[in-house]
Amino acid sequence: MLRKTFAVLALLAGSTFAANAAGDAKAGAAVFKRCAVCHTSDKGGGDALGPNLFGVVGRKAATRPGFAYSAALQKSGITWTEANLTKWTAGPARVVPGTKMAFAGISSKKQQADVTAYLATLK
Ligand code: HEC
Repeated sequence: MLRKTFAVLALLAGSTFAANAAGDAKAGAAVFKRCAVCHTSDKGGGDALGPNLFGVVGRKAATRPGFAYSAALQKSGITWTEANLTKWTAGPARVVPGTKMAFAGISSKKQQADVTAYLATLK
């Protein structure tokens, strides 16, 4: 019975898990609490200290209208692929020196992958 339930759950979650084999979106939602100090993640959510992150996967960096991005991020030319987001959460200032995201980074590789998997669900 338990095994059957798990199989159904795996099927339901299918596409998300397939795209993010390395990350666990549910665990990532808990990691995101560290980001939520500065970011909202809901559709139509407002900007806080950082820009709203709904739909961030696939978006070009520094393109959310109305948010005052740093010049460094505007000039970065980054597109937020999942790989780039994982690097970013590991250490934003290493990816874009001069960014105004004042966050040292997440050191756990698992938590980096998990939070990226969570960001990928925001669509
Ligand atoms: C102390 C506040 C703060 C925290 C904590 C924080 N951020 Fe940010 N974040 C910012 C700011 C400010 C910017 C804008 C950076 C710039 O313009 O250089 C930003 C930018 C971003 C961007 C780029 C968005 C875009 O539109 O280009 C992403 C992605 C991002 N943050 C993800 C995260 C994630 C994931 C976490 C948690 C692991 C996190 N942030 C934690 C403040 C924060």
